[in-house]
Amino acid sequence: MSEIVLEVRDLEAGYEPGVPIVRGASITVKKGEIVVVLGPNGAGKSSFIKAIAGLVPITGGTVFLDGKDITAAPAHTMVRLGLAFVPQTENIFPLMSVEDNLRVACGVLERREIPARIEEMYAAFPDLVRQRRTAAGNLSGGQRQMLAVARALIVHPRVLV
Ligand SMILES: Nc1ncnc2c1ncn2[C@@H]1O[C@H](COP(=O)(O)OP(=O)(O)OP(=O)(O)O)[C@@H](O)[C@H]1O
Ligand SMILES: [Mg+2]
Repeated sequence: MSEIVLEVRDLEAGYEPGVPIVRGASITVKKGEIVVVLGPNGAGKSSFIKAIAGLVPITGGTVFLDGKDITAAPAHTMVRLGLAFVPQTENIFPLMSVEDNLRVACGVLERREIPARIEEMYAAFPDLVRQRRTAAGNLSGGQRQMLAVARALIVHPRVLV
C-alpha cells in the first residue's frame, strides 16, 4: 500500500470571517507523487496551499501530514513538521546572493550538514552554481523559481507545496 504523506479533507479557509475562499477542498498525496491543483486565476489555488501551510486561517476541515493532524499548527512550525511551502511570488531575497538565499533557508539543519546540502541543490539546479555570488534579484524568472524551490527542498521536507 502506498504511503499517504499529505491528506487534506474538506478544507474551508479564507481571509475574512464568513467569507470562505476555499470550500470543500480535499486532496491525498502519496509518497513520491506529484499532485496538481488546476483552476482559473483567482479560483483559490494559492489560498488552498497557503491554508495547508498555516498562512491563511482555516475554518473547517483537516490537514494531516504523515497521519498527524497539523490543521492548527502555526506556519513557523511547518518546516520542522516536514512541510515546505514555496510562495507564488516574493519567494527569494533579491538583494542577497544566491548562496546566502540558500544558507538562510537551512535553519532547521545541523550546521555541519549545510555545505553538503547547498552542493546538492547546486547539483539539482546547475544554473544556480554559475550565479552563486550573484544577487538573487538579477536571476531570470525561471532561475528565481529554481532558487525558491531549492530553498524549500534544502531542508529535506516530506511534502513540498
Ligand atoms: N491576502 C488576501 N486577502 C484577501 N483576499 C485575498 C488575499 N489573497 C487572495 N485573495 C483573494 O482570494 C481569491 C483567490 O486568490 P488566490 O490567490 O488563491 O487565487 P489563485 O487560484 O492562486 O490564482 P492565480 O492563478 O492567479 O495564482 C481571489 O479572489 C483573491 O482576490
Ligand atoms: Mg496563485
